[in-house]
Amino acid sequence: MSTVDHYDKIPNNVNLQRDRKLQRALEKWQPNFLNWWVNMGPEGFQLDDIYLRTAISADSDGWAHFDYVKMPDYRWGIFLADPVEGRTIGFGDVADEPAWQQVPGEHRNALKRLIVTQGDTEPASVEQQRLLGHTCPSLYDLRNLFQVNVEEGRHLWAMVYLLHNYFGRDGREEAEALLFRNSGNPDKPRILSAFNEPISDWLHFFMFTYFTDRDGKFQLLSLAESGFDPLARTTRFMLTEEAHHMFVGETGVLRVVQRACELMKESKTEDVRALGGIDLPLIQRYLNFWYSTSLDLFGGEVSSNAAAYFGAGLKGRAYEMKKYENHVILEDMYVVPKPGTDDIVEEHVPMRNALNTVLRDSYAEDCQRGVDKWNRAIESAGIDFTLTLPSVGFNRKIGVFQDMPIAPDGRILSREDYDARKADWLPSDADQQYVASLMAPVMEVGKMANWLAPPTKGIKGKPIDFEYVRRYAGEKD
Ligand SMILES: [Fe+2]
Ligand SMILES: [Fe+2]
Repeated sequence: MSTVDHYDKIPNNVNLQRDRKLQRALEKWQPNFLNWWVNMGPEGFQLDDIYLRTAISADSDGWAHFDYVKMPDYRWGIFLADPVEGRTIGFGDVADEPAWQQVPGEHRNALKRLIVTQGDTEPASVEQQRLLGHTCPSLYDLRNLFQVNVEEGRHLWAMVYLLHNYFGRDGREEAEALLFRNSGNPDKPRILSAFNEPISDWLHFFMFTYFTDRDGKFQLLSLAESGFDPLARTTRFMLTEEAHHMFVGETGVLRVVQRACELMKESKTEDVRALGGIDLPLIQRYLNFWYSTSLDLFGGEVSSNAAAYFGAGLKGRAYEMKKYENHVILEDMYVVPKPGTDDIVEEHVPMRNALNTVLRDSYAEDCQRGVDKWNRAIESAGIDFTLTLPSVGFNRKIGVFQDMPIAPDGRILSREDYDARKADWLPSDADQQYVASLMAPVMEVGKMANWLAPPTKGIKGKPIDFEYVRRYAGEKD
């Protein structure tokens, strides 16, 4: 097991103190990171004590420590899952060759691109969520928001460690650029479009952590199979933290759904807005938006890049070693959707070229599980309504369905029909104004906003009415 040094300026299990040059480079990047955190991270709340989880090792039991901490004092560290003795590459044309401990020259650019793209999403989401604290529905939720934020900050550290340690001078430049680009900035936007969408209310936040953090999970799962061993080990540990982010999304949406059902029963009408709730059709529209936007993150349905990454052993399928038997897949075919005349049809393509779709299909299956739970809550309230994932063709900005007028049920419409019905399917300005009107902060211990149900339990065995955030009482400058 790797030893952990907590006394370092940067907590780590990579023996940073043995590599003075790397240590100095990262210590030089650290104040820039903190500066970014203070300016672009959560606005306000930086003097408050937050009950947070901090990663302190990569051990499966006891990797996290819970205590009050002020966010700028959070101990962002570098933790890689323990190495697997004699690990070999599991897939592609290089299957069974020893995993690489250094970057192979011929894959340097591709690996750097993969790491930078992943790394860019981490601070981006913190920026997207930076104003949400001011409208939190409870201290429990406020704490969860900040937990997600500090851990995305740590994921940035994870990627920056790889860039600094394995990519020399241009790696260090890329690490600077990760702090320079900003979400939604027209001149220097984040790389992927989902990470430039504003997250202006808590329903957006819950949908984002359910759908978009889950895209992160599947990207990390595919990188966790990588032949580049430090990347595989880094991402394996990031997945441990990521699970909580999706829990926040899944239970967050569930609580909004539960509250909508309660209010429907109470009022005996469908009009939960009269009672200050969020109606189920509006929830469906937010779901449609974030699911379709997150599908774009998987790239084109058919992709020669994806085939090349797989062949070269850079990026596998999710659960490559656990789920599949054939790891070379030179002969296999895969069914990929494409637009037909009136609806979506199927096409068989060589599986290596379909790997973006393979990963996206695993993602869709995983998304459905939470939707099923939300539907069970609606059903057990005796309400006749079903939330559904829209068709893969709906509202797409990337791939074969890009900008096509496709309904959530997969029918291809005329442009006029589509435009006429769009407000039924995607959050309208009126929807967002309504949700915004509900976003009044609730910061009293144990209190909950009216538009969502309380959680079933608190964090780390603490009660729901625990003081998850202790507001700073002194002068703010
Ligand atoms: Fe992350
Ligand atoms: Fe995340």
